[in-house]
Amino acid sequence: IKRVTTHVLQEMKDRGEKISMLTAYDFSMAKIVDAAGIDIVLVGDSASNVMAGHETTLPITLDQMIYHASAVVRAVKRSFIVVDIPFGSYQGNSSEALRSAIRIMKESGAHAIKVEGGAEIKESVVRILSAGVPVMGHLGLTPQSIYKFGTYTVRAKEEAEAAKLLEDAKMLEECGCFAIVLEKIPASLAKKVAETVSIPVIGIGAGGDVDGQVLVMHDMLGITQEFKPRFLRQYADLQGIMTEAFTNYIKDVKNRDFPNKSESY
Ligand code: KIV
Ligand code: NA
Repeated sequence: IKRVTTHVLQEMKDRGEKISMLTAYDFSMAKIVDAAGIDIVLVGDSASNVMAGHETTLPITLDQMIYHASAVVRAVKRSFIVVDIPFGSYQGNSSEALRSAIRIMKESGAHAIKVEGGAEIKESVVRILSAGVPVMGHLGLTPQSIYKFGTYTVRAKEEAEAAKLLEDAKMLEECGCFAIVLEKIPASLAKKVAETVSIPVIGIGAGGDVDGQVLVMHDMLGITQEFKPRFLRQYADLQGIMTEAFTNYIKDVKNRDFPNKSESY
């Protein structure tokens, strides 16, 4: 199998082939999504929400991200694997940022890291890139800053924030980032960013005129049913399918239907 690399991703943008990206946090799910042919697997800090049950992405630790990333790395044969550096492990301290990035790369075997923010984290981005670690940017709604925003609503609707976002995207490209995620911003602005920078721009709630799309696996599978933003397309109702399987199992155990003769030794 030919592995997806930063080079392959750049070629996809250059020839206009859309890039597919999904999150995964464990071995079994990563194995399925890789075999299905996904281009990028993101070990997102959304693990804090969907795996650990926290309300935000802030509590997850670097050690926990490395645990998730290691499991994903053991499963994936083809996809490019990106890992979020969690809140508190890079902001405001480029030495710590570098140390965190190196720990992720060394201890998990992943291929790249992702950081949230623009100008504020430039020094950290430069420092990590200087060590040879590919960096994916993340602009727009950056969930690690949720308490600064105070809301999960669409970002960069106003001129000033939109202009800063475009500048941040250019800066990330100039620094040498290999791609940028844009979360929950107007489609027209996302289109402008994707046209302005030459590196791949992956959207989530950023419209169709970008170079690729990313979703949280548990949301698109319908495992998480409470979270239904406008940008989410649900591709399955796994909560329904799983509930049916679980209730049938419970019923069979109670009825003494399970196990039967052929299921016994
Ligand atoms: O953590 C995550 O799942 C993400 C994606 C939503 C881009 O950062
Ligand atoms: Na994230």
